[in-house]
Amino acid sequence: MKEKLEQIKAQALNDIKNAASGDALEQIKVRFLGKKGELTSILKMMGGLSPQERPKMGQLANEVRSALESALENAKSAVKEKELAARLKLEKIDVTIDGTRRPVGKLHPLSSTLEKLEEIFTGLGFTVVEGPEIETDHYNFEALNVPKDHPARDMQDTFYLGENLLLRTQTSAAQIRTMENLKPPIKIICPGRVYRSDDVDATHSPVFHQVEGLVVDKGITMCDLKGTLEIMVHKIYGENTKVKFRPSFFPFTEPSVEVDVSCPECGGKGCRVCKGAGWIEILGAGMVHPRVLAGCGIDPEVYSGFAFGIGLDRLTTTSHKISDIRLLFENDNRFLQQF
Ligand code: PHE
Repeated sequence: MKEKLEQIKAQALNDIKNAASGDALEQIKVRFLGKKGELTSILKMMGGLSPQERPKMGQLANEVRSALESALENAKSAVKEKELAARLKLEKIDVTIDGTRRPVGKLHPLSSTLEKLEEIFTGLGFTVVEGPEIETDHYNFEALNVPKDHPARDMQDTFYLGENLLLRTQTSAAQIRTMENLKPPIKIICPGRVYRSDDVDATHSPVFHQVEGLVVDKGITMCDLKGTLEIMVHKIYGENTKVKFRPSFFPFTEPSVEVDVSCPECGGKGCRVCKGAGWIEILGAGMVHPRVLAGCGIDPEVYSGFAFGIGLDRLTTTSHKISDIRLLFENDNRFLQQF
């Protein structure tokens, strides 16, 4: 048995010396030290030895085992170093070669303008909500105090999808959905696509975007509306931009206003962009009609609120000096790369 052990030791050490790779070393380990390995099977025969011989052989076997283990360990790190050196030789990096330029996408001007608006309004404590683009007559018109014979309901203005369903013509539908679900204080904006059966030209598109705003609480006044919108305008167009509130009419607000800003192109002198007026209309707004509040279960004697609907496309074209709304939807790369 002693001879056998010596033989195994010599054979294994020799194999280890000649092994060229980590894999080969692993195989040697299994062959000699594994569960069914040669050394292990010798050890299994120890039972047949005399009591005097057993401890001696046991000691010898352990010595052989640890000799093999340390030889394997040393060989492994040597092989690893060799492999690394070979790889380093093979994989040279020339840091002077030009890199591959990967074009990075940019935000569409509509998206970046919307992000800016969301930042402004969330900074003022508003929450951003969303509503469906396919709306019912109730949310888009009826609950907004738009009577059945209102001209907006004409097929020429609205895309109907059936008797009761339509593509929303205004994000104002979100006002009702919000007030039905939340109790005051309410402070939300709702951006989204809206649809109207308009012919396409430089300032009209059958699909465009609005950002609805709604604030309902005790003691909300027209001053709150003016202050809020002025902050928004100054952040979008710059501090020197003038804001004008013109009396207007919407069925769901009373009083109602339309808001103009001094033309960012000419500063108010009159030019091609503002069609000589010096002003550009960017949104409709007003104090929420008591009938609309009551219809949503909010007592108009206790609460009041204001609402606004920003024309996002107009805001984007005028603040980026884009001459034609169609450019926003054509997605010509030469156009988009300018932003
Ligand atoms: N929804 C109106 C429009 O599309 C704008 C608006 C919103 C007016 C909220 C008043 C209050 O013209």
